Amino acid sequence: MKTLVLIVTYLVVARAKWIDIDWSQVRPIEEFDHYWAGLPAELQALRNTSASCSRITNGQEAVPGEFPYQIALLIQFTEGTALCGGSVLTNYYILTAAHCVQDSLGGTAIIGAHNRSHNEDSQQRIGFGTSGIVIHSGYDRTNIRNDIAVVRLNSAIEFNKRVQPTSIPVAGDNRTFSGFIGTVTGFGRTTDSGSTSSVVMFTRNPIMTNADCLQTWNSNENLIQDQNICLSGDGGRSSCNGDSGGPLTVRDTDSLQVGIVSFGSASGCSIGMPSVYARVTFFRDWIVANSDLS
Ligand SMILES: *[C@@H]1O[C@H](CO)[C@@H](O)[C@H](O)[C@H]1NC(C)=O
Ligand SMILES: *[C@@H]1O[C@H](CO)[C@@H](O)[C@H](O)[C@H]1NC(C)=O
Repeated sequence: MKTLVLIVTYLVVARAKWIDIDWSQVRPIEEFDHYWAGLPAELQALRNTSASCSRITNGQEAVPGEFPYQIALLIQFTEGTALCGGSVLTNYYILTAAHCVQDSLGGTAIIGAHNRSHNEDSQQRIGFGTSGIVIHSGYDRTNIRNDIAVVRLNSAIEFNKRVQPTSIPVAGDNRTFSGFIGTVTGFGRTTDSGSTSSVVMFTRNPIMTNADCLQTWNSNENLIQDQNICLSGDGGRSSCNGDSGGPLTVRDTDSLQVGIVSFGSASGCSIGMPSVYARVTFFRDWIVANSDLS
């Protein structure tokens, strides 16, 4: 009898903490007008192209738990709820892109999800408010500089087999990681006109040198700088804006996060152009100074 009472009590507590999501109201961040305001012309063009860049292109479905640091980040705006990616940094802090959370009203981080639309036992859904959002003071939406943010969640993430923090390069690790195979993950759309992916997707390609990336982009807007890291677009394999804020990792001794999804080409994701990320080693000191990561 006593056991039964305890179980019932536990279930009641667990349900009280559960955050219900109305998925019909969730759209990728790039479907919000504010995302496009002031963006460089090269990227503005993306908005009108049929090759709209909103998904992991030419990727595969992950095995549940394969990327235990991946977050489905739901950000609340007056116009609705935006979908981005993110990664688990510590029990309280997550890492994402500045353009995902700027001007938001807070939101919910879904951690431990494989199928985010399903009420999986592995999921932890934790809210955050505006006071928890720390955007890099140098973030500039007109040229996508310093596109990085951390968010402090309202309560602690519990680590387990399905929920683990990402690892970032140690201080003084200044490797460029060019030539490493990069893996990018996210819940973005799977087709240009279709719905977003309910399950975690991933794709792989080599990390480029910044010189090669710059040359391929041939950007008029000086968009590729030391603060960026690029993943080759070979085979049309790419991240896209729907995956914004999510992690780019390499295999070192273990998985190491080296990038945060920032932007893609105006001409489309699957045309072979490199996808561009905020470079984690460049921002390492900022991340440590603005979170409880030591
Ligand atoms: C994800 O879960 C939803 C809701 O349970 C289900 O309808 C959908 O088929 C699932 N998607 C995949 C790819 O398993
Ligand atoms: C890494 O770069 C920093 C400055 O950016 C420098 O102080 C440090 O010595 C470098 N470390 C290595 C191992 O090259």
